Amino acid sequence: MNASRSLIASQDLSGRVAVLTGAGSGIGKATALTLAAAGAVVVGGDIDGAAASLTADEIEAAGGTARAVTTDVTVRAQVDALIDRAMSEFGQVDIVANIAGVPHNKLVAECTDEEFERILAINLKSVFYGCQAAMRVMSPRATGNIVNISSGAIDTPAPTLACYGMTKAAVAMLTKTLAWEAGPFGIRVNAIAPGVIETNFSKHNFVDEDGNVDPEKLEGYRKRFGRMTPLGRVGEAQDVADTILYLVSDAAAYMTGQILRPNGGQAMPW
Ligand SMILES: NC(=O)c1ccc[n+]([C@@H]2O[C@H](COP(=O)([O-])OP(=O)(O)OC[C@H]3O[C@@H](n4cnc5c(N)ncnc54)[C@H](O)[C@@H]3O)[C@@H](O)[C@H]2O)c1
Repeated sequence: MNASRSLIASQDLSGRVAVLTGAGSGIGKATALTLAAAGAVVVGGDIDGAAASLTADEIEAAGGTARAVTTDVTVRAQVDALIDRAMSEFGQVDIVANIAGVPHNKLVAECTDEEFERILAINLKSVFYGCQAAMRVMSPRATGNIVNISSGAIDTPAPTLACYGMTKAAVAMLTKTLAWEAGPFGIRVNAIAPGVIETNFSKHNFVDEDGNVDPEKLEGYRKRFGRMTPLGRVGEAQDVADTILYLVSDAAAYMTGQILRPNGGQAMPW
């Protein structure tokens, strides 16, 4: 086999089944389309079921196979049901990407109990449920890949980011610990800590009061955050999706317990 053919084969996901959360928008949507383009069957969950269905429709229109499942990741039974849908229809789950998450900006002194519980539920407990469900179906087959979405917020403490950063730091620690527990079963577990990525997640930076994109604000957002990186630009969802494709593919066969940082160089931890 020549080098270029083996390179293509190492990122070929044909015959694999991927379950993703957050499939309706941003990084989750880009990842769903990317894994499907690499040959995987995709089962995408999102609390916005209509948005997840649009993603599935796009995949099927391009010749792939996809299902959408309305899923609130804060409810363990719904996360289990998402995984079980993939098992019952396709008989296996090879990839689980726990992507759904929300931003949170509040000073520690001002954060209410309700807000704190909400951000823990959406950004942390959901990933724990997703990892548990993944282990349940992957362990008996002694193969699989789990990717959790952490955040660059774990690298750079900043005012108002305590709750968000705590959930994402916990996701990183969960990932590393589970890598030890899952490794003996042939299951790899990695995390991604994206930098500033232009998605709905960040749109509060560039929309007007009616929620419409304000071109001036958008330009300002791109400049302000782009300047924080050596590459001089904010990231796109595709930048993260490509990193996830790498991690779940055989090209990353010796990678586990790692945190990869598609962040334009904004932070450079050792
Ligand atoms: N965009 C960034 O700058 C950035 C940076 C670092 C990390 N992240 C992380 O990346 C992940 C994806 O974010 P994104 O930028 O694609 O945002 P996004 O808003 O475009 O997409 C998030 C998706 O999650 C879904 N979701 C929200 N709550 C849910 C719930 N309870 N159950 C199921 N689905 C739910 C939303 O409906 C949406 O489709 C998040 O975990 C976020 O914390 C984003």
